[in-house]
Amino acid sequence: MPRGLVFCALTLFALAAGIMVQAGEEQPIPEFTEAFLKDPRNIEVGRRVWEEQCRHCHGKDAYPGKAPKLTPHRYTPAFVYHRVTYGFRGMPPWKDVYSEEERMAVVAWVLSPEFSP
Ligand code: HEC
Repeated sequence: MPRGLVFCALTLFALAAGIMVQAGEEQPIPEFTEAFLKDPRNIEVGRRVWEEQCRHCHGKDAYPGKAPKLTPHRYTPAFVYHRVTYGFRGMPPWKDVYSEEERMAVVAWVLSPEFSP
């Protein structure tokens, strides 16, 4: 094989590998079982995260228009987890702030019947 071709192939390979690493930045969404979502310990951990970080934007005392009022009945656990982990426009990402357990717990809180903004 001519050297140029080998070089070309290597470059392409490196590019493809780079793209794959980039796409791999998002971790798979963890599985949310009923047992996890209903566990009062998880709900309590999530409630604390909410009070600490989420309420001042999403809560009823927040400056109007700062963040949308959450509508939990329309959400799946995966949706809330994804927003909390990676953020979206004005919503900050929390993956470097809270552990996976804490981010999962805040999902349990938001989707719990006790949730109050
Ligand atoms: C700095 C203010 C701010 C903080 C703090 C914040 N959010 Fe948000 N959040 C936003 C904004 C703004 C949006 C709307 C983003 C958009 O759709 O443009 C949003 C969107 C969301 C959504 C999607 C709402 C929907 O119906 O599309 C969820 C769920 C959410 N946030 C949960 C949380 C949780 C849980 C926390 C705490 C870990 C949190 N947010 C902390 C500002 C904030």
